[in-house]
Amino acid sequence: MQISPNGKNRKYNAVITGVGMYVPEKVLDNKYFESIVDTNDEWIMTRTGIKERRILENGATSTLATEAVKDLLRSRNLSPEEIDVIIVATVTPDMFFPATACLVQDNVGAKNAWGFDISAACSSFLFALRVGSGLIESGLYKKVVVVGADKMSAIVDYTDRNTCILFGDAGSAVLLEPTEDFSYGIQDSILHVDGSGRNSLYMLGGGSMNPSSHETVDKKMHYIYQDGKAVFKVAVVGMANVSYEIMQKNHLCSEDVAYLVPHQANLRIIDATANRMGISRDKVMINIHKFGNTTSATIPLCLTEYYRNGKVKKGDKLVLAAFGAGFTWGSIYLTWGMD
Ligand code: UT7
Repeated sequence: MQISPNGKNRKYNAVITGVGMYVPEKVLDNKYFESIVDTNDEWIMTRTGIKERRILENGATSTLATEAVKDLLRSRNLSPEEIDVIIVATVTPDMFFPATACLVQDNVGAKNAWGFDISAACSSFLFALRVGSGLIESGLYKKVVVVGADKMSAIVDYTDRNTCILFGDAGSAVLLEPTEDFSYGIQDSILHVDGSGRNSLYMLGGGSMNPSSHETVDKKMHYIYQDGKAVFKVAVVGMANVSYEIMQKNHLCSEDVAYLVPHQANLRIIDATANRMGISRDKVMINIHKFGNTTSATIPLCLTEYYRNGKVKKGDKLVLAAFGAGFTWGSIYLTWGMD
């Protein structure tokens, strides 16, 4: 039994040993939105940092998740039968039940896996990563796949300029495996929910509170509603504070952190978080300009792109951070374990 840097008595740390991603081909740029709502490229770029986003024309969230997992398996040369658990982080499951994880399991042929979905809005991936790591740390499982996937275009009202310009569709996945070398892997996490924020960002229709009816459809209750300004204020403080807190707790100074990996909702929120941590822009993973806010997929998508572009190296200390509906927010500190 080893004592981890965080003083936890356990044999294993969970480390990311594979990544995968899938973005649909269809691109919606800011010019397109100028043609459907009263907006313009300059407003979108300066207020959000988004230039374009991808939209899935045929298929559902399980399509995005399945392709991401297949990409991960290909890149690691793994057979699907080796997967023990599949966790799908999403707010746009294919349907209420069965869980999207079941569809992904069947699609990829992961015959020996069990799995489930996790819903925590834009923090879904962080929460799923924490749960998946726990399964590895317990010593019960050897290969846990954590997927972040959302088909946001399924719940966006394309007549509402406040929200339609923000979101895109994508899927991305990481593989977690055990390591006995505690210098690598998930080192610490600080995660929060505060349900008193539930009225600022939600989709009201279709659940047990407002089962689907002609009325819920007429009232557009199956679309995202966001009080952008209210969410912005708490997101800036929440994401910046929790990222700073995890650095303090783990005695990290800004020079120790190779990258901040933030949820990609708004470049201004990302900058505020980096400023609070004392980290310059070149040490922040950013792809919001290409994909917009893909909810559960933003963080693994950044990890996959930056790793594949050779920008992340073994031993790099990363701080992941997210804020989303609920409210939900948090930060995970990990040490990259792949060459
Ligand atoms: O991912 C999960 C959590 N979500 C977030 O973190 C999102 C947090 N919020 C935000 O990122 C920002 O609040 C938005 C990007 C959503 C909006 O930016 P903002 O700077 O807060 O704009 P605002 O809501 O204060 O709106 C300013 C003005 C308003 O006009 P008036 O009332 O001042 O005349 C809006 O109607 O901009 C208007 N506006 C637009 N104008 C052009 C809103 N959307 C648009 C648009 N194009 N697409």
